Amino acid sequence: MIYSRIAGTGSYLPEKVLTNKDLETMMDTDDAWIRERTGIKRRHIAADGETTSDLALAATSRALEMAELDADDIDLIVVGTTTPDKVFPSTACIIQRRLGISGCAAFDVQAACSGFVYGLDVADRYIRTGAAKHALVIGAETLSRITNWEDRTTAVLFGDGAGAVILQATDEPGIISTHIHADGKYEDLLEVPQGISNGYDVLRAQEAYIQMNGNAVFRRAVATLDSIARETLEKNNVDKHDLDWFVPHQANLRIISAAARKLDMPMERVIVTVDEHANTSSASIPLALDTAVRDGRIKRGELLLFEAFGAGFTWGSALLRF
Ligand code: ACO
Repeated sequence: MIYSRIAGTGSYLPEKVLTNKDLETMMDTDDAWIRERTGIKRRHIAADGETTSDLALAATSRALEMAELDADDIDLIVVGTTTPDKVFPSTACIIQRRLGISGCAAFDVQAACSGFVYGLDVADRYIRTGAAKHALVIGAETLSRITNWEDRTTAVLFGDGAGAVILQATDEPGIISTHIHADGKYEDLLEVPQGISNGYDVLRAQEAYIQMNGNAVFRRAVATLDSIARETLEKNNVDKHDLDWFVPHQANLRIISAAARKLDMPMERVIVTVDEHANTSSASIPLALDTAVRDGRIKRGELLLFEAFGAGFTWGSALLRF
């Protein structure tokens, strides 16, 4: 049997940091409200001209270095992003060019905050079928570009960043299973309404930004993360107490704590970066993973659960031995 394993992780955050105090000078909000409702203290914001592929490329070179591989070794590139550099070509193709390689398949996956887990699911299947040996899977976002800085109900929640992993073919897992789902009927609860085929119109500029029904998204996220955790553990006959680390999508500390409680995971076993990074959508899981791998918390051989939830709605999970 062929399986995939994570051979290396990498991440990158833009230099500019925007604290809650900074936001107080920009809109009618306050640090205490943001911390209490979301757990967020600060977020990183891409510089003018800094693109999603810039962030992704920096994360990729760190992941390649950890995996002790060269760009030439990559034979599949999958990028989860909702903030691509261009309408086309895909950000994956831009990254491929910037890595100085060609020929391998390269494409983006658009699953909002679940983009990285969707990408992992796809790449794992390519490797299991023998179609790829070394897959680069990225979650990268410049959400600040689709944030309405005049809307305090959303502006305080998001940040920019990128995370990457190199998946490598191996004869024992590695990735034990991935699970991805979607339910399109919740489109209106979390969206950027402006698109291409519905006609770009400068007079509808407000529609080019994230719009969200926060309360409804919150409730749905908590319920869905519970069900995907149960599905994943039951499928693999794994007891929740056997998990070493829970690496959830970083949207809101209250959502993360609720999911951890249901898993009976003490918060010391949950990787939390939402305080420092805010919600970086598809980048949040690989950013959290890389943070905890590099600071020595997550070690080789440990059992990890990833869980994501995002616009669509989309959701997914991965159970893996690191
Ligand atoms: N600063 C100060 N006050 C604020 C702010 C702010 N930034 N934003 C809203 N308020 C006010 C509201 O106007 C409201 O005031 P009112 O009572 O006078 O009307 C009050 O605070 C409470 O607002 P609620 O929306 O009820 O606050 P809630 O406790 O639900 O928290 C939040 C809002 C943080 C957005 C929460 O609903 C949430 O986290 N939802 C999930 C969001 C999320 O995770 N989205 C992304 C998930 S998927 C993905 O990552 C794409």
